Amino acid sequence: MSVRVYVPRDTTALSLGANAVADRLHREAAKRGLELTLVRNGSRGMAWLEPLVEVDTPAGRVAYGPVSPSDVPALLDAGLLEGSDTHPLAQGPTEAIPYLERQQRLTFARIGVTDPLSIADYQAHDGFRGLEAALTYDAQHIVEEIKASGLRGRGGAAFPTGIKWQTVLDTPADQKYIVCNADEGDSGTFADRLVMECDPYLLIEGMTIAGLAVGATQGFIYLRSEYPLAKEILDAAIANAEAAGYLGDDLRGSGRTFHLEVRLGAGAYICGEETSLLESLEGKRGLVRFKPPLPAIEGLFGLPTVVNNVLSLAAVPFILSEGAEAYANHGMGRSRGTLALQLAGNVKRGGLVELAFGTTLRTLMEDFGDGTATGRPLRAVQVGGPLGAYLPESQWDLPLDYEAFAAESAVLGHGGVVMFDDSVDMAEQARFSMEFCKVESCGKCTPCRIGSTRGVEVIDRIRDGRDREANLALLGDLCETMIDGSLCAMGGMTPFPVQSAVTHFPDDFRRTAEGEQP
Ligand SMILES: Cc1cc2nc3c(=O)[nH]c(=O)nc-3n(C[C@H](O)[C@H](O)[C@H](O)COP(=O)(O)O)c2cc1C
Ligand code: SF4
Repeated sequence: MSVRVYVPRDTTALSLGANAVADRLHREAAKRGLELTLVRNGSRGMAWLEPLVEVDTPAGRVAYGPVSPSDVPALLDAGLLEGSDTHPLAQGPTEAIPYLERQQRLTFARIGVTDPLSIADYQAHDGFRGLEAALTYDAQHIVEEIKASGLRGRGGAAFPTGIKWQTVLDTPADQKYIVCNADEGDSGTFADRLVMECDPYLLIEGMTIAGLAVGATQGFIYLRSEYPLAKEILDAAIANAEAAGYLGDDLRGSGRTFHLEVRLGAGAYICGEETSLLESLEGKRGLVRFKPPLPAIEGLFGLPTVVNNVLSLAAVPFILSEGAEAYANHGMGRSRGTLALQLAGNVKRGGLVELAFGTTLRTLMEDFGDGTATGRPLRAVQVGGPLGAYLPESQWDLPLDYEAFAAESAVLGHGGVVMFDDSVDMAEQARFSMEFCKVESCGKCTPCRIGSTRGVEVIDRIRDGRDREANLALLGDLCETMIDGSLCAMGGMTPFPVQSAVTHFPDDFRRTAEGEQP
């Protein structure tokens, strides 16, 4: 009997040699006269174990990783196809790997489990149940469910999704749009990509439900051009969904319409900001728009538009199929549901960790991340992308909760967690933050465009020991000006990492002249 063997085909696994592993498995099995059916699934999100090979056994799937092509013969000798646990790369039953077992996977329940492009596999794992339910509800009922779930935008600003949808529903127009923000520009983040590459129908389902909720018949996925595989998979998934009646003019015989297209961004961080994204989608330069009007009222081509992050939309099918309460039962305070954390930087076990809000940063970095990849002590962590604060050890017991982070001038953002060991120079990191803003600023307003350029110069003077105290004071003033005077969060939040570095790691700003080490 043919044994099913899974080798992921998402970007992470491919970059670590998954295709060569799959090829070697094929050839080695043929040589030995073994029958196997190779399934190219998505990643389970345990980047440190990729390429992760899984085998179907009567007791469930068992895992081996990280597998290189040269490991294949020995793995087959050791009984890989029977799920044997004698080889050093054997990880045991996949679901029992502590990294996975301790997560609360609601949005990512299917990633790595299914063949990303198989509609039958998606349906067999509860897929499209949310959409089937939504087709039986009226628009207001869907919006009420989203409100009751407590879902807040996962793109960064944490704005309540139900309120945004209500605004679009309440704004009369002949045409409305659903725009998915898949620009995923934050440092250390990859959760959007995992959804799109490993479970694309989830996003399609979430966007279609959003269309039904607000009366929009056209959706666009604004995808960063650096994700060519996601583009390929999404295009194929959209064509399959159309053929199966899950997209198009007559959704599952309901007479309802929803069309979907992928559009590529051109590689500017600022095009992730929603109004700049809309400009870019309209074919213009990615300049930030003044608000009001809100995109929910005057968005794409001046019409009411829902702009939501991939993860916000990907949370929707669960809420519709399992009920708002099932989602809201997870989390703490006003942070309901789960958050997709992405462990990156100097970390031993990088990957995707979906947890209910409330876990501490320390638990995440120590229990899941297992410390730094270098083995040196952890010194700082930047949460929430390049505009997020650097957190010192005194803040690692903060619960992962929007309000708890805001109270410390920190953000959870899109869930990126970038770790640094004790060799990091935080003055250099502060300079990097200003330089990033200088390079990526859209240029529309002065505090950001000019402020970031001056910020780099001031930090250079501080690091060179030139008139240090006066320049530190000047840097403080400049940060305040950028916070108060910038049009969008690019200039308005760049000071967060800079100020946190100065406040929590002051020695790094004084060490060049004095020859100190951090
Ligand atoms: C400079 C900047 C970059 C941003 N980049 C992204 C991004 O890559 N992806 C994203 O979903 N949101 C990004 N945002 C947030 C969006 O402006 C917006 O809040 C989000 O798309 C709304 O969706 P949500 O409510 O589902 O989070 C960015 C914001 C700023 C200021
Ligand atoms: S803060 Fe920066 S990115 Fe935002 S509008 Fe002003 S110049 Fe553009």
